[in-house]
Amino acid sequence: MVDLHCHYVPAVDDGVQDLAQGAALCQALASIGYHTVVATPHIRSGMFDNRKADLVQAFERFAQAAGGLQGMPALGLGAEHFCDDVFFALFARGETLPYPGGHAALIELHPERMPLNLEANLFRLSVRGVKPVIAHPERYAPLARASQPLESLVEHGALALLDLMSLTGKYGRRARAAAERMLEEDLYYAACSDSHKPADVELVQQGIERLVELQGKEEAQAMLVDNPRNILEGTVQD
Ligand SMILES: [Fe+2]
Repeated sequence: MVDLHCHYVPAVDDGVQDLAQGAALCQALASIGYHTVVATPHIRSGMFDNRKADLVQAFERFAQAAGGLQGMPALGLGAEHFCDDVFFALFARGETLPYPGGHAALIELHPERMPLNLEANLFRLSVRGVKPVIAHPERYAPLARASQPLESLVEHGALALLDLMSLTGKYGRRARAAAERMLEEDLYYAACSDSHKPADVELVQQGIERLVELQGKEEAQAMLVDNPRNILEGTVQD
């Protein structure tokens, strides 16, 4: 499997805080079958004011210290970009962190309201060849009861990324119900762990089991293996 959303770079956000925890998180993900795990530290103004150069440095430091340990998956770096004006300004200057390969970037929306002109703004990424990947849509209040705003983003080329732990109830009943509905509506392209600490991995495993139960083995395999790989390789079919 390939994980496109994970917080294992130490001490840059609300994820792991030291090298040992970061390595333990990566090793735990590898032990349940992850071949590749892409770190996506937060870039969110006023909360996690990270910038590309600092994150690249922190990631490289981690990869150098932990990459060679036993039982580590392949590592990569992206970011979880909070969708605001700062993000679009950074993107215009080439200061965001798309996924390795540069074909897509992970974007987090405000939990309570959809940003104005979101479709038009995301189109700016698409014309530069970067597909917007929407993090955990099931966790946003405006999408709790109806998927329409997400549907139109997906129609315009955005990719929705399920947070596996939503299926276990970690984020409450509302997020769990929205995730199950979005699965039924066939809105997701891929699934990820969004794990922040080693202890999350047990729930990620439960989420994977639930995904197989709901969607069957073949569809689960597409969401966990083939489609995340397509995002990295730039081979997503429109
Ligand atoms: Fe995250």
